[in-house]
Amino acid sequence: METGFVSLVGAGPFGPDLLTLKALRRLQEADVILYDALVAESTRALFPHGTLAVSVGKRCGRHAMAQAEINRLLIRLARRGRRVVRLKGGDPYVFGRGGEEALALARAGIPFEVVPGVSSVAAVGALAGIPLTHRGLSQSAQIIQGHELDQTTDWSALARFAGTLVVLMGVGAVQEIAARLVAHGAEAARQIALVETAPDLQLHRSTSTLGEVAVHGLARRTAGPGIIYIGAVVGLARELAALGLEASSQLARSLP
Ligand SMILES: C[S@@+](CC[C@H](N)C(=O)[O-])C[C@H]1O[C@@H](n2cnc3c(N)ncnc32)[C@H](O)[C@@H]1O
Repeated sequence: METGFVSLVGAGPFGPDLLTLKALRRLQEADVILYDALVAESTRALFPHGTLAVSVGKRCGRHAMAQAEINRLLIRLARRGRRVVRLKGGDPYVFGRGGEEALALARAGIPFEVVPGVSSVAAVGALAGIPLTHRGLSQSAQIIQGHELDQTTDWSALARFAGTLVVLMGVGAVQEIAARLVAHGAEAARQIALVETAPDLQLHRSTSTLGEVAVHGLARRTAGPGIIYIGAVVGLARELAALGLEASSQLARSLP
């Protein structure tokens, strides 16, 4: 039997609006789709009727299937000649473990491709009025995870970082992150925003300062995923809001 093919596909951060045409084509051609929890229901509605679709996804530590098991399943299905789509939220190579799956497939001699997706890192900020870079405000961005705040994190370097700090998987640790940054010398007046996506895909943005959040925290408004943006670019969102000219139709009205 001929070996199948695996596509590691990014679904973008929301529903199908930000799905690429190539991703859609791969979904339409697939024999099997293995998808993550972050893939929106409205995107899952595009899976063709009759295509086997399996949720293997994890969300904040709740694993439906261990990574090694997912790798083995991808290899097994491809060896049975299946066209497999491994569908992930955002982009597969941004905190998506796509690289690990690519390595496992390559080691097993399985042909595969990566179909990049729109990452939440830029898209969520953009829709909330927060650019990653902005002339005169921030010339660089650093992306970190806030899920495991371990000893290896160089908090002094992060506190000194003059660009935009983007924290994924950090909603539950926002107060701790702010406190550590301030304790390591970051300005208490530095701006911080939490942008969350509610289950109805509306965005909610809360803004504050590091000093405030270090003491009082920053309340969540939804049960959905969220990204923390830290830096002067957060001020642009406030400026746009004050002018009443925000671009996003996805942004909930209850701002800032
Ligand atoms: C495991 S990472 C996956 C990131 C994904 N590969 C990407 O490129 O967007 C999951 C984290 O991404 C962020 N995230 C992904 N989609 C999001 C969305 N629609 N709204 C807010 N945050 C999102 C959250 O910080 C979430 O905890």
